[in-house]
Amino acid sequence: MNAEFDFKKRNVLVFGGTSGINLGIAEAFARAGATVGVVGRNEEKAEAARTAVAAHGGDAFCYSADVRDFEAVSSVYKSFVRDAGGKIDILISGAAGNFPAPALGMSPNGFKSVVEIDLLGTFHVLRAGFEHLNQPGASIINISAPQAEIAMPLQSHVCAAKAGVDMVTRTLAIEWGPMGVRVNSVIPGPIDGTEGMARLAPTEKMREAVEKAVPLQRMGTVDDVADVCLFLSSDAARYVTGVILPADGGAVAAGSAGMGMSGMHHS
Ligand code: COA
Repeated sequence: MNAEFDFKKRNVLVFGGTSGINLGIAEAFARAGATVGVVGRNEEKAEAARTAVAAHGGDAFCYSADVRDFEAVSSVYKSFVRDAGGKIDILISGAAGNFPAPALGMSPNGFKSVVEIDLLGTFHVLRAGFEHLNQPGASIINISAPQAEIAMPLQSHVCAAKAGVDMVTRTLAIEWGPMGVRVNSVIPGPIDGTEGMARLAPTEKMREAVEKAVPLQRMGTVDDVADVCLFLSSDAARYVTGVILPADGGAVAAGSAGMGMSGMHHS
């Protein structure tokens, strides 16, 4: 169950919305009455996600594009605005890539791949999306990560990319505030049942260590993050822009994210 918000007649586009936390966010907006589009790299996964989102109510559309490809991202917008029958009210930029590797075990192309997906991809999504936003009033959320704030071994590429994403959030909040467009980041903490968590804490013992490291003493749920996105996109957050908001049980404040030095392992 999500907190009560009404997004009827709102168009929401979720990049990276074909799996994990981002899919959960797309489903939460669908339950709240929105028309939702999901975008992923893989066409079959995108179609499956569309079906999943549609099961939560309302119209749902899917598109396949790699956020590293500016032209592909631009054409997703043209299709969604046509399919949804209007401009975009809420844009979620959540496409990301990750693998654990020490800097000395990573090729320059490995580092570049993650920076291109996470950071350059965010720029592409926001840069191409701006002209399709309902202005004033649109809300943009970049999905960041604890790595933006906490240095973690085996994550030099993700730490650098996500720190960059959060600065894009803050600078574009300044540049686009006068047009009535809000730009915020949400940092999901350790969220149960996700691919990332399965990779970061594969054993019961590691799960327990993560739970202990979170001030609220539990892993989060996808809805813990989705609710924060609903709030930030709602009228209740109309005066909120340029913030980096963790939905993480206090993990980032504790400086651990539940997966600092001890939690990370090399797969
Ligand atoms: N360790 C070290 N290097 C790795 C790696 C790993 N586990 N996985 C990928 N790389 C490197 C590759 O070797 C390659 O560099 P090279 O050309 O010098 O060999 C580079 O990263 C690109 O790899 P490729 O497989 O061509 O990448 P892609 O563009 O299809 O990549 C990634 C996407 C890099 C994000 C890939 O790791 C991936 O698909 N991950 C799983 C999905 C995911 O990240 N989900 C999000 C969870 S938050």
